[in-house]
Formats: sequence, C-alpha cells, structure tokens
Amino acid sequence: MCTQEGFQAQRSRLVGLLVSGSLEGFESILDWLLSWEVLSWEDYESLSLLGQPLSLLARRLLDIVWSKGTWGCEQLIAAIQEAQADGKTPEQHGRWDPHSTHPAHELQSHRPAIIRRLYSHVEGVLGLAREQGFISQYECDGIRLPVFTSSQQARRLLDLATVKANGLAAFLLQHAQELPALMALPCEDNFGIIGGSWTTCIGNQDTGDEAAACRKYVSKLRTTIAAQSRFLSTYDGAENLCLEDIYTENVLEARMDNGPPGSPQKSPATLGLEELFHMHGQLNKDADTVLVVGEAGSGKSTLLQRLHLLWAAGRHFQEFLFVFPFSCRQLQHLAKPLSLRTLLFEHCCWPDVGQQDVFRVLLDRPDRVLLTFDGFDEFRFRFSDGERHCSPTDPTSVQNLLFNLLQGNLLKNARKVLTSRPEAVSALLRKYVCVELGLKGFSEEGIELYMRKHHREPGVADRLLRLLRATSALHGLCRLPVFAWIASRCHRELLQDGGGSLRTTTDMYLLILQHFLLHASPPDTAPHGLGPIVLRGRLPTLLHLGCLAFRGLGTCCYVFSGKQLQAAQVDAEDISLGFLAPAKSQGVPGTSAPLEFLHITFQCFFAALFLVLSADTPPTLLRHLFNCRRPGSSPLARLLPRLCVQGSECRESGLAALLQKAEPHNLQITAAFLAGLLSREHRDLLAECQASGKALLQRHACARWCLVRSLRQHFHSIPPAVSGEAKSLHAMPRFLWLVRSLYEMQEERLAREAVRGLSVGHLKLTFCGVGPPECTALAFVLRHLRRPVALQLDHNSVGDMGVEQLLPCLGVCKALYLRDNNISDRGICKLIEHALPCEQLQKLALFNNKLTDDCAHSMAKLLACKQNFLALRLGNNRFTAVGATVLAEGLRSNSSLQFLGFWGNRVGDEGAQALAEALGGHQSLKWLSLVGNNIGSMGAQALALMLERNVVLEELCLEENHLRDEGVGSLAEGLKRNSSLKVLKLSNNCITYFGAEALLQALERNDTILEVWLRGNAFSPEEMGELSRRDTRLLF
Ligand SMILES: Nc1ncnc2c1ncn2[C@@H]1O[C@H](COP(=O)(O)OP(=O)(O)OP(=O)(O)O)[C@@H](O)[C@H]1O
Ligand SMILES: [Mg+2]
Repeated sequence: MCTQEGFQAQRSRLVGLLVSGSLEGFESILDWLLSWEVLSWEDYESLSLLGQPLSLLARRLLDIVWSKGTWGCEQLIAAIQEAQADGKTPEQHGRWDPHSTHPAHELQSHRPAIIRRLYSHVEGVLGLAREQGFISQYECDGIRLPVFTSSQQARRLLDLATVKANGLAAFLLQHAQELPALMALPCEDNFGIIGGSWTTCIGNQDTGDEAAACRKYVSKLRTTIAAQSRFLSTYDGAENLCLEDIYTENVLEARMDNGPPGSPQKSPATLGLEELFHMHGQLNKDADTVLVVGEAGSGKSTLLQRLHLLWAAGRHFQEFLFVFPFSCRQLQHLAKPLSLRTLLFEHCCWPDVGQQDVFRVLLDRPDRVLLTFDGFDEFRFRFSDGERHCSPTDPTSVQNLLFNLLQGNLLKNARKVLTSRPEAVSALLRKYVCVELGLKGFSEEGIELYMRKHHREPGVADRLLRLLRATSALHGLCRLPVFAWIASRCHRELLQDGGGSLRTTTDMYLLILQHFLLHASPPDTAPHGLGPIVLRGRLPTLLHLGCLAFRGLGTCCYVFSGKQLQAAQVDAEDISLGFLAPAKSQGVPGTSAPLEFLHITFQCFFAALFLVLSADTPPTLLRHLFNCRRPGSSPLARLLPRLCVQGSECRESGLAALLQKAEPHNLQITAAFLAGLLSREHRDLLAECQASGKALLQRHACARWCLVRSLRQHFHSIPPAVSGEAKSLHAMPRFLWLVRSLYEMQEERLAREAVRGLSVGHLKLTFCGVGPPECTALAFVLRHLRRPVALQLDHNSVGDMGVEQLLPCLGVCKALYLRDNNISDRGICKLIEHALPCEQLQKLALFNNKLTDDCAHSMAKLLACKQNFLALRLGNNRFTAVGATVLAEGLRSNSSLQFLGFWGNRVGDEGAQALAEALGGHQSLKWLSLVGNNIGSMGAQALALMLERNVVLEELCLEENHLRDEGVGSLAEGLKRNSSLKVLKLSNNCITYFGAEALLQALERNDTILEVWLRGNAFSPEEMGELSRRDTRLLF
C-alpha cells in the first residue's frame, strides 16, 4: 500500500529510478499509465516532448500522478514494475477487440500489448496504412525517422491514430491482431550511426561507461535534432512541408582573399552547403567561427536547419560527434547567469545518464563539436570582447557566454556557425571570424527547381514559371526564398490574375494576406481578390495582429507568450488565420506554446498595417520610422504638425519611444511596407475599410515628405568633388533602402522629385547586396536623373535578372560597372541590345562574370554600332580565340574605343592574332590588356606587326603569358617602328637576359616609351642591376 505521503518521501529515489533507464523505458511506463487511464491524453502529451531532459519529464510525471491521489501513486509503482517485467516475459495473447466500436479507446486500453505486437512490423504496417489512405506520405516519413527505435515508431503510429479520426485506429486494431506475437521485447540501442568511433574519440580511459553514456547522448541529440529539423519551420499547419522535399540549393559565396594591392579582385567562390567548412581561415586563421550573412528571408535559418538534418541523419558533417543548435532569438530570453554546461545540457539536450562523462568528452574533444547560432541580428546585445570568461562550469550572462564561445575563449577549437543579416555584423565581430560567406538566395535555376519541387502536379510549375519569366520584377523578387515561397503558395491567385499587377514587395505581402484571408472565409463570402469587404470584415484581426507585431518590434520581441497575445487582444480566431505559428523548440511544456510570426518580414508587414490602419497613429509618427525626426524648414514640414489630430503628441511620444528601441533594419523593412501600403493603388483599398480617409491622406503626405527629405539629406551629405574628378556618391545601405521605399510607393512624380537635387557624376554602390529587386528600384528612381551618371554596381548579385531590371535606366547611364555580378551571356546580350540606342552610355565594365564566346557577337555589334563608345572591360571571363576573333570584327569598324580589357581569358595566340590584325589601323584605342591569356611567340609576332602600324596605342599589358625571348624579340622589332606606346608590361613571361638585350636595342631607337615592366622574369639580381643601369626605363 502506498500513501501519498510515502510516495512523496520516496520522490528522489523514484526520480533516480525513472531516469536510470533510457527514454525508451520511460515511454513504456507511460504506455501502461495511459492504458489504465491514469494519464489523460493532455498529460501524456506534456510528458512526451522531444528534447526535454528525462529528469524534468520524470519529475513532471511524479507531480501529475501525485495530483491524482493515492490511486495514481500506486498505479505508477505498478507501471514501473510492468515495464521492468516487459522485456523479460513473453507476450500474453492480445485480448483487444479488433472490431471495437470505439477503436481509439480500445487502442489506448491495450497500448502496451499493441506496441509489442507492432514492434517488428512497423515498416509493413506503415506501407499498408499509406496504401489504404489512412496516413499521408509525410506522416509516414515522420514516423520512419531513422533515429526512432522500432517501439518508438510504433508509439508514434498509435499517437497518430488517437488524433486522426479517419479509421486508422480500427485498421491498427485489426491488423495488429493478425501479426505474430513476439516472444520478448529486445533491449534496443538506437545508436549506430557513427558506429565504433567512440573508442577512438574518447581514448582508452573508462571507455566502457563513458562510451555508453556518450553513445546514448548522441543518439538522443540526433533524435531531437532530426525531429526539430524535419519540417520547414515557418510553414503554418495548412502546408506541412518536409525540408527534404523542398530544400533547394541556395547560392553561397565566400569572398576570396585578395592578392597584393593592385591585383584584380578574385571572384567569390561558390560553395555547396556540404563545403561549408572547406574554406580555411580566409579572414582569421585562428578563429573557428564561420559567419553566414544574408538579408531577411535569404534562407539562413533554413540553411542551418538543413545542416542539422544532414548531420542527424548521418549523411554529412560526420566529423562532428555533437551538434548543438541555438537560436539567438531564444537565447536572449535567458535572463539568469548560466554556464556552458547548463547551456548545452539544459537548453539544448539533456544527457539522461553520465552527465560528467559526456561533458568531459565534450571538453576533451572540442574539435568534434559544432555549435550553431542562428539570427545574430535578433540578439539584442551587441558583440563585445571586453569580458573574458573561460570556465565551462562557472555561470555568466548569456551574452558573455556567446561572445566568449565565438572568440574561442571557451571550448576553443569547437566549430561555430553564426548567421546574421548584414546590418548586425560589426568590424569587431569579424575579427573573430575565420570565413565569411554570403547567402545570396536562389539562382534562376534554383527558382525553377524550387517551383518544381513545390508543385509536382503536372503543368502547374510550368505555368507558374512562364508567368514569372514574363513578369520580370516578380521573378527578381523570387530570388529571395521567402518571396519564392509566397509566389508558390499563392500560385492559384497568381495564375488567375496573370501576375501582371505584382511589382512590389508590398504587392506580394498583400497577395499572401488575401490568400490567408480568403482561405479563412466561408467559400461564398470570399469573392475574387482582396476586396474592401473581405478586408473590412477582418479589420479587428488585422489590428490585433498589427498591434502585437508593432509592440514586438519596439521591444525586440519576436516570440509571444499567451499574456502578450492577450494584451494585444489576439484571440484564437486571429491565430487561426495562419500568420502566427508555434515558436520552434520553445516554451515551458505544459503551458500553451508561445507563438511567432511566420517570418520576421510578416511581423514588419503587420506592424506597417497597424500604423496605416490604426486610428491612433499620428501621421507625424512616421517621421520616426523614416528616421527623419527634426522637421526642417520645408513648408510641408511646418504644416505637418498642424495636420495632426489634437492630443496626438502624447500618443506619438509613446509610440515613437517604441520605434526608437526597435532594430533599425526591422524598422527599414516596416517603413518600406508602409510606403507600399500608402501607395495610391493600395491606399484606396485601405481607405475603404478605414474610418478616416483623411487620416490615410495625412499619413501618405508624411511618408512622402519623409522619403524625399531623407534622400535629399543623403545627397547633401556627399562631399564636394575632388578637383578633376566627377562628384561621387558612395551609397550606403540606407540609400538603397530609401530607393526601395520610393519604389514601393510607385509614384513616378515622387521619384522625379526625389532625385531632382542629385548632381553626382558617379554613383557607387559596391558591396551593397544589390540583387534584382534593388535593381528594379534603382532603375525606377534613377531614370529620372537629369544628368547622366556612372553607375558602379561592382561586387553585388545583380545577375541576368538584375541586368534586365536595370534596362529602364540605361538611358541615364554614361558608364555601367558590373564587375563580379554573376552575369551570363543571356543577360549581357539583352543589355547590349538595349544599350545600342543609348547615346550616353560609353563604358561597360564586366570583369569577373560568366561571359563566353556566345556573347561576342553582341559585343562586336556594340563596337560597330556605337561610334562614341569608349571602354569595354571583359577581364576574367571565359572568352577564347573564337570570341576574340568575332570581337575583332567589331573593332575593325569602330573608331572610338579607347580601352579594351581582356585580362584572364583564354584567347591564346590565335585570338591575339585576330585582335592585333584588327587593331593595326585602329584610330582610338589607347589601352589594351591581354594579361594572362596564354599568348606565346606567335601572338607576340602579330602584336609586333600591330605596333608597327598602330599610331595611337599608349599602353599594352601582356603580363602572365609565355612570350619568352622569342616573343620579346618580335615585340622589340615592333617597338623600333612605333611612336605611340608609352608603357609595355611584360612581367612574368619567362624572359631572360637575351630578350632584354633585344629590348634595349629597340629602346635606343624609341623615345616615346617610358616604362617596360619586366618583374617576375628569369633575371639574376646582377642582371637586373646591370639592365636597369643601361636603361632606366626597364623596371624590375
Ligand atoms: N534553401 C531553401 N529551400 C527551400 N526553401 C527555402 C530555402 N531557404 C529558405 N526557404 C524558404 O524561405 C523562407 C525564409 O527563409 P529563412 O527563414 O531561412 O530566412 P532567413 O534568412 O533566416 O530570414 P531572417 O533573416 O528573417 O531570419 C523559409 O521559411 C522557407 O520557406
Ligand atoms: Mg532566420
């Protein structure tokens, strides 16, 4: 007999008993308690949460049974005894009724026996249940996870049958009855993925216990991580996608180390996810942190999720024995000091046995440990390296723990992957990073693959892709995975509408809003599109969600508790709309799970909706959003405060205080949405469901004013031009954001007004993360410039899609620099086709792209048709002799080109010959680079002949070929008859003293030449000394 008091007195012994076995053993105790109805289904759910420490679950179980009185306590003791006996006794004959009229109840009452019966037949039963339509493929896959033991799989199948009222329970009852009875339940060890690596990993001391504890721990870690990473996190219940099915390769680029100053920048290396750790110490050799940077929605979290899944399934990254995933969003809520040990064990995965042993192995072999920290931008503490913390067991603040892990003061040599949006990465943080990778989103092929994976039904993907290609702005947006998801999710609406009206990001988010709203409405109340009726009906919901989003941004809160939901009046119906989803691996079990927006961009969108629709938003508040706080002397600025409603100042200061505390990049996203919502097109729609059209007009006026003013302020901050050079604007991300917000507003007049004051000759937007959507916005604004500008977009992700977006502003570009932008022939051919009639455009720089001979015809046409064209730089592409020959034809009919760059192609002797022949009589070319083109003596001969005839070329760059003495001899002959060349660059060409001798002879007769570069050839120091004494123009 067990009294409640007696039970309580034995509590610690019972906890010890419950945690001494495996999770498997614990689950079998739950089976008995469920079957005897000691535990309700809700009790059971709160006790079967993956990833929770077993000790915590055990204590919770004791609390629950204790709350049920003496009977409950007795039943627990009995269940423990049954479970212990389970593995040893043969199964009693199943006594369940296969034709029960309450199959779910029957299943539960005989749960232990049915699980034993199903144990070694799960695979077959799953196949049958799938075939007969009782379960879907993804439910099947979820149960089949290799990290579950067979009895755990059987349990999950039964759990599914309990919640699915579709006949699965009856099917299982009948089918299990027909299966042969099992003699005894084998003791399972579901570890086995990394096999025998333990002994090698932990050395020889105490291998028995230590290895067993580690094996058990890793097994639990893998199970937990596999379960957490299996489904895409930001999908609502309506669409449960397996990561495996939908994951599409995302463009991941590592910026390469640059060579010595002056050498051209190398292309970034494109990596597959599996190569994440292949780049070594590009930035800092001693660091162990890989930094992955990408804008909101570029797929950083998904990339990590994929990494985790690949590890958990034993498919990649097996060099790591332990992987610990963390989200900065969640970490920042850990208010109490904590140690490394607490962080790993209590906030990631709890070792049920041998904690000391497991921790010792972790500390001994940090090189086998990987920690991932997602979303550093959402960590409210800024990185600092001021406070050193080295003890793995002493507690400290969570930020100090994270910063010291990143620096390597703690767990040195453990690998770390940190993801962040670009804005949150400081120079100080970069000091502790070994490699920085940029996540660029989907390539064009990636978009196609993604759509095909998402829409397997025949024809849908084809139609959707056709539509995207025909709607280039939308296509450009889909480069960002989160937009690709929206387009894909709303494919029906898109196909119906033709997609033509979708241009801006706001359009996309209104589309998904419509999609969710219409899905939540009864079929007959849902007319076509997002009409005012639908919107008005849902106004309270939008305001509730908007208020939650807005307050969240203002307090840097992205995960919402029940209390916060209540404070914003968000009720079950609002949640059912689908924009809020349970936060991943969060929360105190037993309480309702906290929620978060599907993606941070949705939170920003709802915050913007709130600011537009709420009756309480004073228009002037928007100044804070656009960071335009002090009204200047403009008449509108002075007028604005008077336009505000009485009493708004006080409200404004409260809301403004919130805005000031928000993360600036979230505010920027919100501001861009706000501009979009206030655009004429959407304003009318919103006015229909808002009490005061006047308020909307006021907000619109304020947003407009802010945008123009901010852009002008930006222009005014440009320093005056250095004498002799064009005034240059080195644009910052803020400039791009303003331009994107202007685009969201879709007002031509506003764009014209905004750039009226811009009088720069050169607009530099290098390394700014410019992709197709930014190109669309830039073109929308810049085409209104009054004076032509040199647009420098080097080192971005413009790509072919971006090039297409830039076409509308080609007319105002006098030069276009697109180095290092992943552009291929298709993009460039299109660009040239549109450039032909553009009078102003005189320079194109296309270094480091993916151009081949296939675009040479277009280049030739450009040279032949545009007789004012000055510079064409095609370095580091893939041109061969074929392309050079085609281009040479264009050169023959051109009389304006002054600069031609071919560095790092493969034109060879044949290509050099073709170019040389075309250039013999050229009238304007001053500079020619054929560096690194595999040119030998034949090519040199042709170039020498060209030098004899040509009277304008001033600089010829032939470094890094293999001209040798023979080639130099020919060039020397050419020089004797040339009177224009000033600089001849011959470094790294295997030239010896004999070649130099030939040059000296030529120089005796040539006084135009000023420098001959000969570094890196085959000269001894003495020879170099002597040669430069004989003629100082020879440079070594
Ligand atoms: N590689 C991918 N394959 C398929 N879908 C993807 C991929 N990457 C991202 N997605 C889709 O895009 C959505 C947004 O991606 P994700 O949340 O990973 O972006 P993020 O860069 O982490 O954004 P944030 O900066 O806001 O944290 C995902 O929910 C998913 O639907
Ligand atoms: Mg993320």
